[in-house]
Amino acid sequence: MEKIVALSKRRGFIFQSSEIYGGLASTYDYGHYGTLLKNNVKAEWWRSVVQERDDVVGLDAAILMHPKTWEASGHLESFSDPLVQCNGKCKKRWREDHLQEDLGEGEELRCPECGGELSDPREFNLMFETFMGPVQDDQARVYLRPETAQGIFVNFKNVMQTARKKPPFGIAQIGKAFRNEITPGHFIFRTREFEQMEIEFFVPPDEAEKWFKHWLKERERWYSDLGIRPDYLRMREHGKEELSHYSTGTSDVEYLFPIGWSELEGVANRTDYDLSRHAEFSGEKLEYFDQQSGERYVPYVIEPSAGADRATLAFFVDAYDEEEIEGRKRTVLRLHPRLAPVKASVLPLVSKDGLSEIAKDVYAEIRKVCPSEFDEGGSIGRRYRRQDEIGTPFGITIDYQTKDDQTVTLRDRDSLEQERVASAELPELLDKKWKEDWQPPKLNQ
Ligand code: GAP
Repeated sequence: MEKIVALSKRRGFIFQSSEIYGGLASTYDYGHYGTLLKNNVKAEWWRSVVQERDDVVGLDAAILMHPKTWEASGHLESFSDPLVQCNGKCKKRWREDHLQEDLGEGEELRCPECGGELSDPREFNLMFETFMGPVQDDQARVYLRPETAQGIFVNFKNVMQTARKKPPFGIAQIGKAFRNEITPGHFIFRTREFEQMEIEFFVPPDEAEKWFKHWLKERERWYSDLGIRPDYLRMREHGKEELSHYSTGTSDVEYLFPIGWSELEGVANRTDYDLSRHAEFSGEKLEYFDQQSGERYVPYVIEPSAGADRATLAFFVDAYDEEEIEGRKRTVLRLHPRLAPVKASVLPLVSKDGLSEIAKDVYAEIRKVCPSEFDEGGSIGRRYRRQDEIGTPFGITIDYQTKDDQTVTLRDRDSLEQERVASAELPELLDKKWKEDWQPPKLNQ
């Protein structure tokens, strides 16, 4: 993980938030390449679950919601973690369930930092509170949403009617969520402000099991199609004691992060819990009524819920590779071209003799079809290394031969093979290459 954090900072993917003030704990800002990478992750998710399906539509709900939402959803009552505090020297706070997991059932818990005695656990609610308007009283109390899902449930009727959908159909949303985590950490794996990519898929109750399996398969496939090594992915079913208050069944898609197997995404059967509760608290009927058959029911919900930051971290970690080429170490991000922040770099061999001008013309054409970069600073070797470290899959070099026959070299980031192609053909060739022709390479690490 240290290598990932160092590369993130060195190349401008991710920075510590408010660094000039000493940083805000477990809060991060995305730099240029990090923003492009995370945007690509979100765009690929949207392409796969909305654009390429007829049964899912989109939504972008507000972060602040009516406070009754959180009573109905059960978050005010149950969205908490067991907090213990060290009564010894360090006074640190811990999640009791995490300590127990690490130690095994029945073992006496002590503070992992200083070995001190721990307090009795108390339930700590993870929702961030704030106040709406100038008066800070109970009437004005609102919450930063801890999951995007509730914005979907409260819009169920609006969307079903306006999108002219009937179950089975889903609503997808990407947006920020906030949790006052007791123990955030491991870089962007667990933070207090993060982005979720969630689908609430509404189904007839007797089809819930079928759709649960469908979404598990679909979501696992999405990660491996985008290059995650299949043997670094696994499914894990939650035990009864782990289930959230709304779920009758949840399976996690897990990834083998440097910290060990950890949750990447959860797929849950939320039954009719949320729609029934919101109907009860709001007085609105939230059900499906089929006018032709007279059938009426509250749909069950299958929820694939992913973290955009956590997925970005998994793609980043999975793509990180090091190798030795002619005695020199090369660090390379072998990202799927669809995720790579920059698809092609245009590099004049030298910046004199008119090569720079030719390269700028090539660059002007390339950038019309894919995000690309022009770079003429430093030796060609250093420029390649920089592009390898940000994961640029294709490198185009303009050399003296280009002046004679208008061809350029096209370098493949992973195989390092170079081919000579006509510069006029580059836009079409690259457009095809970054979208279709890619097989994950074997990693050295
Ligand atoms: N609506 C269901 C829900 O929110 P969750 O398992 O609590 O379920 C779903 O969260 C996903 O959101 C997780 O699998 C993870 O990818 C991401 N996530 C949750 N808490 C996070 C945190 N503190 N930091 C970063 N990502 C988080």
